[in-house]
Amino acid sequence: MAYSLYCSIPKKPISSIVISSPHIMFNSVHKFVPPVTPSLFPSRYCTWSSVSSSVAETDEHYRQSPRLVAKEYADLNLADKFTEDVGNLRIRQHVNPLRRALMIPAEAPNWMEVFGDATLPLMVDIGSGSGRFLMWLAKRNSSSMNYLGLEIRPKLVTRAEYWVNELGLKNVHFISTNAMVSFQRLVSTYPGPLMLVSILCPDPHFKKKHHKRRVVQKPLVDSIVNNLAHGGQVFIQSDVLDVALDMRDYFDTVPDKLVHVDSVDPSLPCDGDGWVLNNPMGIRTEREIHAEFEGCKIYRRVYKKVQH
Ligand SMILES: C[S@@+](CC[C@H](N)C(=O)[O-])C[C@H]1O[C@@H](n2cnc3c(N)ncnc32)[C@H](O)[C@@H]1O
Repeated sequence: MAYSLYCSIPKKPISSIVISSPHIMFNSVHKFVPPVTPSLFPSRYCTWSSVSSSVAETDEHYRQSPRLVAKEYADLNLADKFTEDVGNLRIRQHVNPLRRALMIPAEAPNWMEVFGDATLPLMVDIGSGSGRFLMWLAKRNSSSMNYLGLEIRPKLVTRAEYWVNELGLKNVHFISTNAMVSFQRLVSTYPGPLMLVSILCPDPHFKKKHHKRRVVQKPLVDSIVNNLAHGGQVFIQSDVLDVALDMRDYFDTVPDKLVHVDSVDPSLPCDGDGWVLNNPMGIRTEREIHAEFEGCKIYRRVYKKVQH
């Protein structure tokens, strides 16, 4: 079993994906679509595509990327424990966040029970996927920061919670919810300051009629900006130029409250188009690792809340 990335090439729908830690595996048998030369398609989207296991298993190239993820997150030492104890995860690749069942906001938890110290500064990762990215950060900053992952696919949260328990971390928590409808309720009840919100490689929803399914919409942006503490930051990125530009448009249009970091922090250099060159977190997300492995550019912006 293996995965592939492909570049804006129409594909047949994928019914489900089998995820086994730390490798990502697909159970469908669509034809393999080879990646297009990166330089020819600078705005291409490197996305999951299903591949026939018989094709992929003979191709070492397509084994490398999950290995890179495992290597990047080796410190967590999660190995295949979840799979051994619980079995593989079967999840749908695409979720429509506008489905009625997903429009119900999550109840805020008792933060004192969720975190060891609920007064610490908070980072929220919207669309946290497997959760390894937040766990890695939580392990490194165990006494200085709390981490909250919002993820619409419940099975990913079930596994993330299992891992958090294994790691014994008291400063990271995952909630299975649609961030579009729950962000405000959740963060407005948190006792400490909201210092960082990340939206990293969100689902692209390519078709124009599906753009309204994209997680970054004005109500969410307003809620992020209003709840962010002064000096707090927003980190967005995508390997899809159109998605990155869409997010950038939203956050650029609150200049009275947000400034882009390149105007206040020379330690985060940008390219000529204003995209931050390097991931400032010290760890790449899984999607980022796969996309970079395929030669895709990552478009990043980092904003800081200011008091005018
Ligand atoms: C492409 S993955 C990226 C995961 C991770 N951030 C990374 O960079 O590796 C996008 C994730 O966002 C989740 N997601 C999509 N829409 C969401 C929503 N409205 N609320 C919460 N999570 C969402 C998806 O289920 C998926 O796990």
